[in-house]
Amino acid sequence: MFRVKILSKCAFRRKIRSRLVLGIETSCDETGAAVMDETGLILGESLHSQKEVHLKTGGIIPTVAQRLHRENIGRVVQEAMERSGVTQSQLSAVATTVKPGLALSLGIGLDFSLNFVKLHQKPFIPIHHMEAHALTVRMLQPVVFPFLVLLVSGGHSLLALARGIDDFLLLGQTLDEAPGDTMDKVARRLSLIKHPKCSMISGGQAIELLAQDGDRLKFLFKPPMGAHYDCNFSFAGLRNQVTMSIQKKEEEEGVEQGTLLSCVNDIAAATQHTVASHIAKRTHRAILFCKAKGLLPSCNPTLVVSGGVASNQYIRKTLKIVTDNTGLHLLCPPSKFCTDNGVMIAWNGVERLREGKGILSHTEEVNYEPKALSGLTRSETSTPHLTIGGSAGM
Ligand code: KG4
Ligand code: ZN
Repeated sequence: MFRVKILSKCAFRRKIRSRLVLGIETSCDETGAAVMDETGLILGESLHSQKEVHLKTGGIIPTVAQRLHRENIGRVVQEAMERSGVTQSQLSAVATTVKPGLALSLGIGLDFSLNFVKLHQKPFIPIHHMEAHALTVRMLQPVVFPFLVLLVSGGHSLLALARGIDDFLLLGQTLDEAPGDTMDKVARRLSLIKHPKCSMISGGQAIELLAQDGDRLKFLFKPPMGAHYDCNFSFAGLRNQVTMSIQKKEEEEGVEQGTLLSCVNDIAAATQHTVASHIAKRTHRAILFCKAKGLLPSCNPTLVVSGGVASNQYIRKTLKIVTDNTGLHLLCPPSKFCTDNGVMIAWNGVERLREGKGILSHTEEVNYEPKALSGLTRSETSTPHLTIGGSAGM
């Protein structure tokens, strides 16, 4: 069980003497801020989601995201500070996502943070968004390095071995789009925003909800990358198959695109199942690869799953089958810490502060990097290549 530590203001005023970090997140469509102490105690947090706006426009329009971040960042940071009872002068550092993400969104968080650290004379800690997702679990319970990490979100799909707070060995990544993106697009193509149960939730959440009452066997989609014995992902082909099935159904039912089909639950169930089983197969291969190469500890080897898609219970259950069969311990942070937030950025700042890594007192050279995947080092033991159920072809 995870325990999230949140301290009341009074207790804080009586007690705390540890270093304090303000974390700021604006890489995509959430404006988040949190103040945290060195032990991982959340002193105050605030989150503004843009999801509702982007759902209405059928996807994230970067200039709209930028405007909403700009409108909200001051208030969000102020709220987190006020809730924490901490003054600016008590902060030890400011940590902010600088990569990867939408350029226009990252820019708002970075500009705000650089002004803030200049004004209050604080050190700055640039944060890699995916590393922050990967390490959030350590805020909730002690997880020692190395561990295997699966990050699945709207922007990413990757498997890596976490060897240290800034040392990630990349084992596989998506070759086209991320699973959250695929599910968002399928949900849009199905016009799920018109569904009474789905008008206010993300595409991935809508797919999960509808799939509960669907029969996945009514639509059989070909699993992706069957002949590629590595740990990379691909979801675009699945999306094509789903789109073609939707078109066929629309023709059969004689309805226009944009009409809710009678079989949305079955399509959702089949899509979710194919996504889950693809993710599970690649993760299984990564586990076998790490075991064959002696990359995981023999005592309590762990798979950490995070990112927005990791809040999907069907995907979690599928991954549990894989970890149970391979003797790994499966850890998924609670949903609120799987999706984007300021807390995970503050925690990454704390981890860096503790180890004295990447703390900048001069910020002239700092910039954001929309495309940066690495930080994460590609596997130097060659691309993981294993035939599951057969011999290791490495
Ligand atoms: O990590 P996140 O908040 O933002 C990115 O960095 O992308 O992830 C958002 C993504 C969206 O694509 C959303 O549809 C997906 O995570 N998502 C889900 C679920 N909840 C959110 N996908 C599947 N099942 C869910 N329950
Ligand atoms: Zn994310």
